[in-house]
Amino acid sequence: MLAGKRILLVIAGGIAAYKSLDLIRRLRERGAGVRCILTRAGAQFVTPLAVASLSEDRVYEDLFSLTDESEMGHIRLSREADLVVVAPATADLLGKMAAGLADDLASTALLATDKPVLVAPTMNVMMWAHPAVQANMALLQARGVRRIGPGSGELACGEVGSGRMAEPLEIVAAIEALFAGPRPLAGRRAIVTSGPTREPIDPVRYIANRSSGKQGHAVAAALAAAGADTVLVSGPTAEPDPAGVSLVRVETAREMLEACRAALPADILVCAAAVVDWRPGEAATSKLKKDGGTPPALHLVENPDILATLAAGPGRPALVVGFAAETDDVVAYARAKRVKKNCDWIVANDVSPATGTFGGDHNTVHLVAADRVEDWPRMTKREVAERLTRRVAAHFAEIGS
Ligand code: C5P
Repeated sequence: MLAGKRILLVIAGGIAAYKSLDLIRRLRERGAGVRCILTRAGAQFVTPLAVASLSEDRVYEDLFSLTDESEMGHIRLSREADLVVVAPATADLLGKMAAGLADDLASTALLATDKPVLVAPTMNVMMWAHPAVQANMALLQARGVRRIGPGSGELACGEVGSGRMAEPLEIVAAIEALFAGPRPLAGRRAIVTSGPTREPIDPVRYIANRSSGKQGHAVAAALAAAGADTVLVSGPTAEPDPAGVSLVRVETAREMLEACRAALPADILVCAAAVVDWRPGEAATSKLKKDGGTPPALHLVENPDILATLAAGPGRPALVVGFAAETDDVVAYARAKRVKKNCDWIVANDVSPATGTFGGDHNTVHLVAADRVEDWPRMTKREVAERLTRRVAAHFAEIGS
């Protein structure tokens, strides 16, 4: 709940500004007070009247408006908030923030604030990938600005890729995590793998699987919310970047293993990725051609087992957790897998098509440890992640080191 929290929401000029209207509503539902700054470009996408109606407050637009300044100057505006949220955060506004410019009310308030700032970037995929934008974002994060998203998918401009603003409920969850009380995993470091891997056949074709990355991303978000310094090593997914984690994007199993190794040392390793078991032994360097003859045969070789490799050490994290997706004898296979892969716990789940687990939002899992099996009821993947995080925190509290 966000009762009594005061949020200053800066709405910049992106098509995703329409989602900010829903964000205002969601925040108000949770008891937060929302005061909005609408940039000149933002007002091209949503009207001041809509923003004022939903926030039940006047909307602040102009740095040089005598009314704005006499009623509430930009300094007070930014100080009388517990958190400043920029959604959508455009390339232009991120650039201004990084450069310390203050030529309108939004950028001036952002420069004047002494409160935490959370940005939800959104822009065209090429703009987001541009080194200038990436450098600005990295600089802002190094200065302590928190980021949520952008996610991947089809963008309003018709292109597909990373650049979509996080959904309002994800932004709300990130805000709740920021205000969350105790952080039992503060001082711990976690590595989480998530999503599928993609193993190239040739420059345009690959082998992958149906993993959505939802569960792994939720685990990373929950560990980070509990205070762990969390590195999420993810294969290609459409999931938005979870708040507060360091995300390393990879494609292949071998890249995933290397990224995990580079993130060591860690206290906690959670392998939730659905790693492709076999990859084409040698990817063709140019596109394989259909010439009407015999189809090419794929010669497959086994991928490294990331979980088993890291659990074997050196530098084995103190708590190693694997996932086991099974369609039958779920717990029995999970017990065997726990021993074989030298994990402390296995989170076993039934992924038979009837359960809708793959790609869905729910999961029914069993936590298999050396001395016990816990059967958890069906819950959302986010709840599974939060419960797992509580178990992780309890484990470290128990062992006391
Ligand atoms: O053997 P199986 O794929 O069922 O094991 C599942 C567990 O092992 C998951 O935690 C998964 O992330 C991990 N795994 C891995 N590297 C592989 C295969 C599985 O880390 N190559």
